Parts: sequence; structure tokens; C-alpha cells
Amino acid sequence: MRFASFIAGFALTAAPLVAQVPVYLDETKPVEDRIEDALGRMTLEEKVAMLHAQSKFSSRGVPRLGIPDIWTTDGPHGIRPEVLWDQWDQAGWTNDSCVAFPALTCLAATWNTEMAELYGRSLGEEARYRNKSVVLGPGVNIYRTPLNGRNFEYMGEDPYLAGAMVAPYIRGLQSNGVAACVKHYALNNHEVNRHNTNVIVDDRTLYEIYLPAFKAAVQEGGAWSIMGSYNLFEDTHCCHNDRTLNRILRDEWGFDGVVISDWGGTHDTDQAIRNGLDLEFGSWTDGLRSGTKNAYDNYFLAYPYLEKIRSGEVGTEELDAKVRRILRLAYRTVMDRNRPLGSLCSDEHYAAARRIGGEGMVLLKNDGGLLPMKVEKGTRILVVGENAVKMMTVGGGSSSLKVQREILPLDGIRERFGDVAEIVYKRGYVGDVTGEYNGVTTGQDLSESRSAEELIADAVAEAEKADYVIFIGGLNKSDHQDCENTDRAGLELPYGQDAVIEALAAVTDRLVVVNVSGNAVAMPWVDEVPAILQAWYIGSEAGHVLADVLSGDVNPSGKLPFTFPEKLEDVPAHIFGDYTGISQRDTVDIEYKDGIYVGYRWTDMQKKTKPLFAFGHGLSYTEFQYGRPVADSAFMSEDGTVTVSVEVTNTGSRAGQEVVQMYIGDRKSSLPRPLKELKGFSKVYLEPGESTVVTFEVDRDDLSFFDPDRHEWVAEPGKFDIYVAAASDDVRGKVSIELK
Ligand code: GLC
Repeated sequence: MRFASFIAGFALTAAPLVAQVPVYLDETKPVEDRIEDALGRMTLEEKVAMLHAQSKFSSRGVPRLGIPDIWTTDGPHGIRPEVLWDQWDQAGWTNDSCVAFPALTCLAATWNTEMAELYGRSLGEEARYRNKSVVLGPGVNIYRTPLNGRNFEYMGEDPYLAGAMVAPYIRGLQSNGVAACVKHYALNNHEVNRHNTNVIVDDRTLYEIYLPAFKAAVQEGGAWSIMGSYNLFEDTHCCHNDRTLNRILRDEWGFDGVVISDWGGTHDTDQAIRNGLDLEFGSWTDGLRSGTKNAYDNYFLAYPYLEKIRSGEVGTEELDAKVRRILRLAYRTVMDRNRPLGSLCSDEHYAAARRIGGEGMVLLKNDGGLLPMKVEKGTRILVVGENAVKMMTVGGGSSSLKVQREILPLDGIRERFGDVAEIVYKRGYVGDVTGEYNGVTTGQDLSESRSAEELIADAVAEAEKADYVIFIGGLNKSDHQDCENTDRAGLELPYGQDAVIEALAAVTDRLVVVNVSGNAVAMPWVDEVPAILQAWYIGSEAGHVLADVLSGDVNPSGKLPFTFPEKLEDVPAHIFGDYTGISQRDTVDIEYKDGIYVGYRWTDMQKKTKPLFAFGHGLSYTEFQYGRPVADSAFMSEDGTVTVSVEVTNTGSRAGQEVVQMYIGDRKSSLPRPLKELKGFSKVYLEPGESTVVTFEVDRDDLSFFDPDRHEWVAEPGKFDIYVAAASDDVRGKVSIELK
């Protein structure tokens, strides 16, 4: 008894001696209270210091209060190596090599939201381990022209697919206490003149095509930050654009995170104050190299802002709103002491990269079932092409990486088949023999003295004796070949590859063309080549993934996230568009005259032209049969849903995955609409002979279009067709419903 009363007594008397944890540090208090407490303790100078960079990739916390700095890092496919405090060049660390995950076009091509979550979570673990609070990605700009240098970083032409895939990526990433920074918001759909393009687009197109993926990132993904894009919209730079940042992003979508400028995307203090920018980075740089002046105190939201407040020209209302959002980002990341610790270059991450790559590879063509390869003792395999041996993880702009390892295609083929087959490599052509970005070098010596003719003759001579000829080419993230800040000059493959492919096709009918790219390319030889694989920038596991698919260890299940046009003249952005590809200094108005008819929305309406390969196209080593789709009701009531079911059967001889796609078509509408629009998809794994029933819940949102005059989404009563398809040009059945 005595002891208990002593303890009670002690506790009562000792209480005042235990310092009260201030609210902003008290993890038992709601974050919003902690933000207010921290804000109340900060000086004016500390608040302004928080709004802008202090180094290439970090912004200031509040050291006096123990609020850490915020560290950001590129990029969407892997965690960028450390650069010097105020330079783009390498800091020379020896422990910042990473896993390069497949480029996001490959992730989109998986059409598998579980892969997206796995991707984001794995990438977030690497970022967390490197003590980063913001990953500058993912990118979801819509694929409007196949010339855009950064399409490889994005998720294709369809807003529904991009939105459905980006949300789980963000949730996975942020589960590590690391913020995603979805980019580039908005309308950054090509690279030439990226700092001075003023996009002109009608509201319906804006809301139906170019905003939905960002809206999904915010509302389904819960993105904690978003990056303003370099270009202008309605004559205002998107890094400080009242309409996109305050009215749409915050007022309409309820975004409570931080708006971060692109590096060098801020141009005006008053606009930065009023139009929604929170965190300014990279001012006066072009986002890749050095700029005119880098004194961080002279940033638009630095001393000039402080001066305007001190002089009474502006108040502190916007300032406090910005600081609140940045503090919220801090509490979600660097101030969260319970967030996981992450991991770097783990076996799990390599396994994830390999699995995502394997699910993203798209088998475009496979005449006569040439693939998968049947390799036995003595089989002769000829591999041709620079992309079989050239590292792809270095280059391409800010998403360039320093990897712990990269399995090259030829290495993967040798590893998988080398013990039984005879494997010969021939260069075939010379592309880009360099291999360096921001001081990261590949260390490869790709120098070549022979002429193009000799290289072709050498490859052809070997091809005549080979059982399989695997041509591995495409683009390579060099300037103008899928690279930030530059666009491609045309749809054609560079470096004379077409001549090599045609020469090989002339001597063998066992030719497989593997196109490594993040963009569609012209294929004038398409009829002469029996098998074609669209192999994205797969990253560290490229060689393993390619060998997995060529051997059949993995049955390809990827589907194109964008249309492969036969020629550039078939692309609406080039039929109607103002896109010239010519670099200019003054502001360039680019009107998106193709409107909502982007990609398959356009090709579906064409009678004379067909795409080379359609959006959603992708073959398998097995076959799938679809039953007749059935709706559980012929009518959709005002707020109801209709369930559409379809049985899918694997009628082939090997297990595989199929992406069942659901599109809606509006038979009659007050505004013109595409023939059909993607509104659902489901990826199913089936053993040979196995069947499953795939169901889609269709609601009135799926039937709606955006009415710009009413400024809202509208589903008009009438008949709709629900298409069930294996590709946008391969409808397997449809069922009609009526909206009452
Ligand atoms: C670049 C890119 C952006 C990147 C940033 C930092 O210019 O536009 O995507 O995250 O600057 O490198």
C-alpha cells in the first residue's frame, strides 16, 4: 500500500517537471493542429525560406524548430544518383546506385493495377532508403504525338488507362512515407519549345482527355504533391496558373498537397504568390543544365516576396497557406517517425522489375507461332543490333539513372540459351556510341570502324545459317530518340535500321524484330517480318525479361497503351495540329485542334486508314475465347449500375493472361462523341482450358461526357453500347443498355 501511494504521490508532484511536448512535435495530436502550432512559431523569414530551393533538389525546413529540410529526387523509373549541392554533376557517392524499373510506358502496357502498386511501393522503398521525401514522378501526360521525347516516361494515350494505373503506383509509393509528385501538370505533350509553348485547348477536350489522369492521381491516388509544367495554358505558365492550380486542382478536386514548380518553370513573383505555386525549384535553369544565376535568395518566392510583404504590398495570407501545405507534406514524410525504413537494390526489387517488365512486353505479331523459341542442342541463334548491347538506363534526361546493374538483351539471351545453343552477335548498325549523362558514364566502348554496308553484309551472311535471327533495335534515349527536351524528327527508325531489317528479312523467315522504344515507330518491313515484340525501356532486368518472353518462360500479356500509326500523316495532332517541331524563342501557340479525337478515338472513326497496331493490341502464346457479354438489366436507372458479364476461356495449350477491355459507345448525344471510350479493364490469368467470368460495373459516370457549357459531366438518357474487347480494334461482343 505504502509503495503504491508513494508512486501516486511522486507522479502528482513530478508532473510539472516533465516538459510538455509542444503540439507541433506531439505525435498524439492531429496533424492539422500540429501544423497550426508550427506555423504560429515560425518567423516571417523562416516561412519564406520554406517556399523555395536551397540546393538543386532540397528546400529548407525550420532547423530552429527541428523541422527537417525536404529532399526531392528524380525520377519515375528509379532514384537518381546524388548530384552536388548546386550543380547537376555527380556528387560521386559510391552507395547511390539503384534498380532501374521499367519505364512507365511498360507499366501502362501491363494493364495490371497490381503491378502499378508493386512498382510504386518498390520505388518508394528505394527513395525512402535514400532519405528522400518526394519522388519527382510519375508522369501522366497524354500521348498525343509519337514524336514527343518524353512519352516513354508516361502512360499512353487514354486518360482512363493512365488514371487507373497511376493511382495504385502513387498509393504504393506513398506507403513508404515518400510523396509522389505527379507531373507535368498540365498539357506538356511535347518537348520542343517546352518552356514557351502556349497550349490552346477547348474545355471539353481539357476535361475529357488531358485532366482525368491527374484527377485520378489526386483523388484516387491521394498524391501529396504535383509538379507544374513548363508550358503555358491560357497565356499563363502552368507553374503559377490560377485556373489549373487554384480553381481546378484545389477547388474542384480538393487537392491538399504541395504544388512544386518544374525546374526553371517559375517566371513571376506576383503570379507565384497568387496563382497557387508553393515550392519553387530550379529557377533560371532549363531544368537540365546550368542557368543564368542560381542565388537561391533571389528566387521569385524568396527575397522579392519577402520585400513585398515587408513593404506592405502583399499580405501574408497566401504565405501561410503555402507554408501550411508544405508543413503537411513534412508531416506526411520526414516528420513521420513511424514511416518504414525502405530498402535499396533488394532481390525483391529486381524481382518486381522483372515481373513488371514481363507483364508489359507486347507481342505485336507472331506469324506461324515463330515464338516462343524452340531451342535445343546446336540451335544457332543470331542476335543483331546495337540495342542488344547498349545500356539504356543512362540518358533520356532527368529520368537517367546510375544502376547497380543492367542485364543487357544479349546477356539475357546468352544466359538463358547459351548452354545449348550457339549464339552469334552481329552489330548490324551503329547508333549512338556515347553513354554519359550528368557525369554518369556507361563505360561501354561501342566504337565501330566498319561501314554500314559491311555491317549489314556481315549480319546477312550469318543470318542465312541461323535457326533464329533476333534483331534488337529501336530508339535509345539519345537526343531526338526518346529524350527529354527534344522531340523526334519523324516516325522512322534512325541509324538505317530499316535497311538492316529488310536485308535480314530477305534471307530468313525466322526473323524476330525487338523494338526497344517508348514511342511508336514506322515499320515499312512489317509484312516481311513474322514476329515483332514491342520491348520498352525495361531497365535493370531488360535482358532477363526479353529472354523470359522469347523462351516462353513468360507468356507475353502486354497490350499497347497507345496507337501505332502507320505514318505520321495518320496522326490527328499532325493532321490538324500546329505542331511544327521547330525550336523558337518567343511564345508559340499550339492549338489542340484534334480535340477529344486522340489515338483510337480518332482511328475508330477512319474508314480509309488503319493503324499499324491498335491501342489495346497485344498477342499471347495462347488463345482466348470470349462468350457473349450479358447485362443484368437492359435499363440503367437514374443512380443505378448495370453489371456486364462475359466468360473468357483459355482455348490454347499454355497458361496465360488476358486483358479484357470494356468500352462504352453513346448511340445518340447532343455533342459529338467518339465511337467508343475505354471505361474498364480486367486482367485475368487462365490455365489451358480454364474459364472465368469477368464482370464490369457500369454506372452513369461511365456513360457521361463533359458538357463545357454546363461545366459538368452529363449522361444523357438513351441507348448505349457496352463493348467487350481484346483490343480497341478487336471487339469480341457488345451488349446494349438504355439509360432512363
Ligand atoms: C526537369 C524535368 C522534370 C524533373 C526536373 C528535375 O527539367 O522537366 O521532370 O523532375 O527537371 O530534374
